[in-house]
Amino acid sequence: MTDPFQNVDAAGPEFIKIFADTMEIRQSDPTMEALVAGYLSRLDFAKDSLTVEIGAGAGAVTRRIAKHAAPAQVIGYEPSAGFVKEARARAPNFDNLRFEQADGATLPVADNSVDNAILHTVLTHVVAPETLLAEAARALRTGGWLVVADVDFSKAALASAANDPLDCCAKEFVRTYVTDPHLVGRLRGLIADAGLRLDHFDVQSRVIITEAQMLPWVEITTRDMVTRGLIGQGLADALIAEHAQRAADGRLYGYQAIATAIAQKI
Ligand SMILES: C[S@@+](CC[C@H](N)C(=O)[O-])C[C@H]1O[C@@H](n2cnc3c(N)ncnc32)[C@H](O)[C@@H]1O
Repeated sequence: MTDPFQNVDAAGPEFIKIFADTMEIRQSDPTMEALVAGYLSRLDFAKDSLTVEIGAGAGAVTRRIAKHAAPAQVIGYEPSAGFVKEARARAPNFDNLRFEQADGATLPVADNSVDNAILHTVLTHVVAPETLLAEAARALRTGGWLVVADVDFSKAALASAANDPLDCCAKEFVRTYVTDPHLVGRLRGLIADAGLRLDHFDVQSRVIITEAQMLPWVEITTRDMVTRGLIGQGLADALIAEHAQRAADGRLYGYQAIATAIAQKI
């Protein structure tokens, strides 16, 4: 199965609705909120500046950026028409934010015209991340800033013991919904190859201890595995119940490592 995030419209309206909601849940997580607040605090948003989020999805992060940047303008570029429609519907009251349909490889902006370009959990879902980084570098003005925030999916886990059966949900998600789980390991090199100067790189832990944080992963991956005939409905129900029980008992433990890289066009 190819990562559906490579072509969200082809994945269909149900996928769009589920992942629009899932990305809202993820962005409301205090760890994710702190991570976004952290990188936004390192950028400048002068009144006449332009910030773009590339691969904006349904706009959960773009709205957060626009609140911080106001009154400066923010554009969310997103290749999926379905996500653009969701993003516009979810952001009715902003006068400094708009969403446009565009692929990150061909942004409809002039050279040297963007002050801040943000790629938030996008590069792990594309086949050629170097193309998107080169395009962001083209769009940025000299002195402008690139932010890449992405999950090191090679470390994603939902395990409290060796061969923990619940971990199959995390591993299946990475196998089927991620294009390059090791992207973060190559990120600093990719940024250097794009001609940008790295200013900051860190990796933070997102720990999953409540049911809502990872429940969509467990529901989606178990449903997919049933559909593909890999497991029966009984096992799917048991995994969801185990996840709920661990959360209720205070024993749930999932893990994601999330990198933030900030680089400047010089
Ligand atoms: C996991 S979602 C993240 C969405 C959003 N940044 C967020 O964090 O809420 C990945 C996004 O990357 C987008 N994407 C995939 N290929 C892309 C490309 N070539 N250019 C720009 N965006 C792309 C997908 O359409 C999807 O919206």
